[in-house]
Amino acid sequence: MSQISEITTSSSSAADAGGDVLVLAARLANGGPVLLTESARVGAEPELDALTALLPTLGFKGALDTVVRVPTAALGGHRQSKLAPQVLVVGTGEADDTAALRRAAGRAARELAGTDHAVFALPADNPDDLAAVAEGALEGAYTWSGRVPESTSPLARITVLTPLSPAPRTLLHRNRVDATAPILARARVLAQAVAMARDLVNDPPAKLTPAAFADRARRAAEDADRARKDGRLKVEVYDDERLATEGFGGIVGVGQGSVHPPRLVRLEWSPRTRGGRAAHVALVGKGITFDSGGISLKPPASMPAMKSDMAGAAVVLTATLAAARLGLPVRVTAWLALAENLPGGKAQRPGDVVATFDGTTVEITNTDAEGRLVMADALAAAVAQSPDAVMDVATLTGAQIVALGERVGAVMGSESMRADVLAAAEGAGEDFWPMPLPAHLRANLDSPFADLRNAPVGNRAGGMLVAGLFLREFVGDTPWAHLDIAGPAYNDKAPWGLTPQGGTGFGVSTLLAFLEQRAAAEAAAD
Ligand code: BES
Ligand code: MN
Ligand code: ZN
Repeated sequence: MSQISEITTSSSSAADAGGDVLVLAARLANGGPVLLTESARVGAEPELDALTALLPTLGFKGALDTVVRVPTAALGGHRQSKLAPQVLVVGTGEADDTAALRRAAGRAARELAGTDHAVFALPADNPDDLAAVAEGALEGAYTWSGRVPESTSPLARITVLTPLSPAPRTLLHRNRVDATAPILARARVLAQAVAMARDLVNDPPAKLTPAAFADRARRAAEDADRARKDGRLKVEVYDDERLATEGFGGIVGVGQGSVHPPRLVRLEWSPRTRGGRAAHVALVGKGITFDSGGISLKPPASMPAMKSDMAGAAVVLTATLAAARLGLPVRVTAWLALAENLPGGKAQRPGDVVATFDGTTVEITNTDAEGRLVMADALAAAVAQSPDAVMDVATLTGAQIVALGERVGAVMGSESMRADVLAAAEGAGEDFWPMPLPAHLRANLDSPFADLRNAPVGNRAGGMLVAGLFLREFVGDTPWAHLDIAGPAYNDKAPWGLTPQGGTGFGVSTLLAFLEQRAAAEAAAD
């Protein structure tokens, strides 16, 4: 398992903070760089003035995602000082808002693989900016520990300079509270969740079978449960036999072509509440550990990325673990629908009819539209327990990527849920965009042989929306949001911002923010 970096805060100025590398940010204004260093300047004015003069001659303009590294000696730092021996400047582009800071901190931390200790002197004088810098740095520092041969080890230690950190002197007073402690605690939990989601996606599919995924989920849940006093995190794994006897025809059908049988994992975080009733949110994740397309086989070029087709389940699992680790006062039931979609002698065929958990019959027209089949079962089982809201996360359609590209997720569903997800995403620094579920497209799913067919034949129009309409059949009246993250879940291009190559962990931050929102709303209603 990939470890996150150590992180602390300090109220020192850059000149006193030490470290191996000092990280500064610059934005791009009028074609040139402007350092964002207010609180870091004290005591380091000569060096920072020299840096300001030097940057343009190095061709550094402060553009988004650019970095430049300068030895402090080149800035005339002759005097006795604890200024780090190197300075790294990261560009934020024209924006210098919270999202830009998160991304810049991530970009810098990624650049610093192999470094022991970096001191981040980015603007962090309010809680939101401090959180963004801490989260960005921790998420950007990630490297996949499973790689053979090994990648350069990640940045080991991070100190974030912030005036919110109590001065060392005041720490001697016993009862002095450190306002940065809960911010760092949350950032660590979030970064750990993101790292685990990335790890799960990056693992080769021969290693991460449905049973292996279920074991990882069980172990992680038991771990998180042991640490808690303010609630319980329970985990239950349905094996293939139980799935068959209890009527999960979607999951069984998709999984039957593989020698690695399917699983359904149910996690439940129940906070200990004082009298009041906690809101109950159900989360459902698509966990296709490898999607070959089945008998409706995909072309070769589409397949390597399909080890990431369990990203939705990874996001749901890790966000639930994070909610438990933070002791959030919201009840969460999380469902991971795990199966491997392979062709084989026992595989499901186009033309077969399956019955899902709620009794709906589905004609299989395309075995590559498998995600909606496993999600149908898990959604039906989730809403049967009457949650206040249900949210599903899935790498569901190639059409999602056509519509929104590789960095923006789509959100569909009930209007108020859609709005709540967008608000959570905004605070979390993730890009989601609202999409409609147009009624006229529903006719694409009519079948002469069953209640529904799983995919239109020979018509790709609005493919993401048709998939959303299919899922809607299984949620009843429960307020519902559907997150299609086919594009942003996996990055097979160059890294950018805090996003590495491979699994991205996209969605974890939004889900955690959404759960926190629900917890806060309940507390306000009490
Ligand atoms: N897992 C894919 C969707 C996908 C494609 C995710 C590319 C990430 C990158 C999904 O199971 C799928 O194959 N969907 C089909 C549906 C179609 C057959 C109706 C698709 O999008 O082509
Ligand atoms: Mn598929
Ligand atoms: Zn799939």
